[in-house]
Amino acid sequence: MLSVTCKAPVNIAIIKYWGKRHEELILPINDSISMTLGTNELCAKTTITASEKFQHNRMWLNDEELLFEEDSRLMRCLKGVQRLAHINGSQEASLCWKVHIASRNNFPTAAGLASSAAGYACLVYSLARLYGIPLTEELTTIARQGSGSACRSLFGGFVQWHRGVLDDGSDSVAEPVASAQHWPNMHVLILVVNDERKKTSSTTGMQRSVTTSQLIQHRVDKLVPERIANLKKAIKARDFQSFAEITMKDSNQFHAIALDTYPPCVYMNDVSHAIVNFVHTYNKTTGTVHAAYTFDAGPNACIYVLKENVAKLLAAIQKVFPTDSIDTVEYLRGLAVSPESNIEK
Ligand code: ADP
Ligand code: DP6
Ligand code: CO
Repeated sequence: MLSVTCKAPVNIAIIKYWGKRHEELILPINDSISMTLGTNELCAKTTITASEKFQHNRMWLNDEELLFEEDSRLMRCLKGVQRLAHINGSQEASLCWKVHIASRNNFPTAAGLASSAAGYACLVYSLARLYGIPLTEELTTIARQGSGSACRSLFGGFVQWHRGVLDDGSDSVAEPVASAQHWPNMHVLILVVNDERKKTSSTTGMQRSVTTSQLIQHRVDKLVPERIANLKKAIKARDFQSFAEITMKDSNQFHAIALDTYPPCVYMNDVSHAIVNFVHTYNKTTGTVHAAYTFDAGPNACIYVLKENVAKLLAAIQKVFPTDSIDTVEYLRGLAVSPESNIEK
């Protein structure tokens, strides 16, 4: 019997991935950039056990069993890592053993807080540890096939997911842009507005946007490439003003495209919009930009803020928003996936 446990954090997209050019391989229509949070914060924790005694591959997510062998994304990740192990020369009989997987998220699942990113990054990394495979760019192409955003959670710090041009997706990889240590005072506040499952999953929402939005192609062709270049410059220079402007504009543009989708995908709610207004007013009163909001496919806000400005911002949030309307949590940025235990034989 072999067993391994790993943890993987979520990543918060700064330039959003929204739309695929290939559904099964999960190839995106545009590059994206995110920041990965710490492994003690919003995390998935996954234990995988392989045994010659197991009859079927099985998985439990937050204690509920999933139909693993009927789930093409889960099977693609399992087969992908096993294939890689085989190519790397592993002759281990354990490669043929069935696996039992138990995963838990320590934050709301499917609520727009990137559970699919942490979940599939953790699954693929745990499988890699189980079969003795190193963390490489190629491994990110397997995590990508679980959930696109997951490929970015294999690395810490600021990470770019390249759209790639090849049909087989081998160049659609995640690559670190800057390490977590490069900008150590960058923090994120997560404002949980609603922890329920979203009505339209990211997968369904982006499919509908690609087929119906008239704005999405302009974003992909004209706007994202320039934005990616400018964001990388801002990160390299630790230029918070430029970073913040790009972050907020890209969040707004993504939600504009969600609304341009037909029928529209409405992910933000009244509290989300109140947070947007609050941040702009706050930045005006402080004179310089201290806070940058971003919203994924859900109503919950992530606010990028430098460490020295956290306390003041938190106090202002608590004054404007009563504690029963949002939960405020501060998360340090940090490292990528980490193994919890070594393989037991
Ligand atoms: P989110 O905004 O949370 O990423 P998505 O709609 O993109 O929401 O994805 C949610 C789905 O991701 C879940 O229904 C489940 O299939 C998958 N998922 C979430 N957490 C995990 C996990 N820990 N392990 C494996 N899959 C997970
Ligand atoms: C808005 O990666 O969850 O969070 O690839 O279909 O699993 P699938 O979708 P997913 O989409 C994430 C969309 C987003 C933006 C982002 O994380 O870049
Ligand atoms: Co997701």
